Amino acid sequence: MSRSKRHNGRPRTTAHSSQAAHNHRITIAPRLAGLLPPLTPEERHELETSLLAEGCRDPLVVWAGRNVLVDGHNRLELCSRHDIAYQVVERDFSDEAEVKLWMLDNQRARRNLSPYQRIEIEMVRESILSEQARARQRTGKSADGRAGGRGRRRDPDDGASGAGSRKQREAMAQAADRAGVSAETYRKVRQIKASGVDPATEEKLRGGELSIHSIFIKTRDRARQQENEEKRKRAARGGKASDRRVMVGDFRKVGHKIPDVSANLVFTDPPYDWDAARLDDLGAFAASKLAEGGSLIMYVGNLQLPAALDALSRHLRYWWTIACLFGGSTMMMREYGVRQGWRPMLWFVKGSRCDRSVVMADVISGGEEKSSHEWQQAESEAAMWIEHLVPPGGLVVDPLLGSGTTAVAAQRLGREWVGIEIDRATAAIAGRRVGEVAGRKSTGRARAKKK
Ligand SMILES: C[S@@+](CC[C@H](N)C(=O)[O-])C[C@H]1O[C@@H](n2cnc3c(N)ncnc32)[C@H](O)[C@@H]1O
Repeated sequence: MSRSKRHNGRPRTTAHSSQAAHNHRITIAPRLAGLLPPLTPEERHELETSLLAEGCRDPLVVWAGRNVLVDGHNRLELCSRHDIAYQVVERDFSDEAEVKLWMLDNQRARRNLSPYQRIEIEMVRESILSEQARARQRTGKSADGRAGGRGRRRDPDDGASGAGSRKQREAMAQAADRAGVSAETYRKVRQIKASGVDPATEEKLRGGELSIHSIFIKTRDRARQQENEEKRKRAARGGKASDRRVMVGDFRKVGHKIPDVSANLVFTDPPYDWDAARLDDLGAFAASKLAEGGSLIMYVGNLQLPAALDALSRHLRYWWTIACLFGGSTMMMREYGVRQGWRPMLWFVKGSRCDRSVVMADVISGGEEKSSHEWQQAESEAAMWIEHLVPPGGLVVDPLLGSGTTAVAAQRLGREWVGIEIDRATAAIAGRRVGEVAGRKSTGRARAKKK
């Protein structure tokens, strides 16, 4: 029988009943064996129990002429271990890619797979199909085997034309469809796998014990943290905070270097786990640095709100609460059964707000900016307050500067600013960011002078 011979357009299956089944020399090809999602411990246990009780009802399948096992790896192993007889059938395939695609389809049809396992299968299928497409491109043949010719113009939206092309998105949507999941879930699994997932977690994902979404969030956050840590390290290697307006230290210790009653605005963003005592220190600091009529504008965590109101009211006058919208995205707070789409910003004043002719909106949205630091806030949000509450020549102070968003916004608006940051590497990031803005301004001025 010719291996490439077809029967009714499909690979021909020849039943080969093995009398002495154990003597049938079956070869295991590791790259085929490793193609399929492994059985979960429960699936394995079920299979073993059924083999012991009922024998091996389904024959193993080998690639005709080569005796390479293409279906029944677990059955073969368990049957050999318990000395259970089995049958073998042969099946024709034209090449290894065809074998692999058949194995994937066969698994999908036979096993009761979890969404994660179904996506795994589709991902392997995708990689086989794109390897076939690359091979065709190399040989200049089209998908039906006809010569396409070197001169064939490539579709600019071809799969090989780069990530995120239309064809790739369509292929992903189709793969998601075949896996019976949304394109979003499919994309999440791809990202989980691309970032590297440990075997124990993957086992739980396969068994459905862990949700794809929760691991996706963890993986994404870990990747962001790593990226930020890298940035921090690079900045730290780059040396110190290059701008003397970035003070390195604890604001409670170095804050005395900023003259009292000198600031129009204290704009800041404390860590959301700060308790009332630390917020109290912040309130005292703001009260001493602000000029009469000056404002403290501060991001707070939703859960921190009662403590913040309590602590700051001891030093300043409560004025308003602002809603900072996440700009469309939301954060699931499972513990509270809440989908969060905004965070509060508190506004306190020293004495009373002098200039009420400037009307401020109490719902704002600067979007998400995390390019320099994981805690980075949107520059436009800081800019809005600095522009309206700090007159030209006035001063804004941020005692928890982080990656320097307040300083960058003030610098761009031409306002005076001072920031304090306890972490040297983070302070260096702030120094670098401000330096970039200041550098752009001075080259702009120099160009204008030349003209
Ligand atoms: C939430 S982050 C600020 C992020 C900032 N809004 C930005 O856009 O990058 C708070 C910062 O306060 C700093 N910090 C914490 N305790 C401090 C202290 N006692 N004095 C000065 N800085 C402190 C932390 O290192 C952190 O960088």
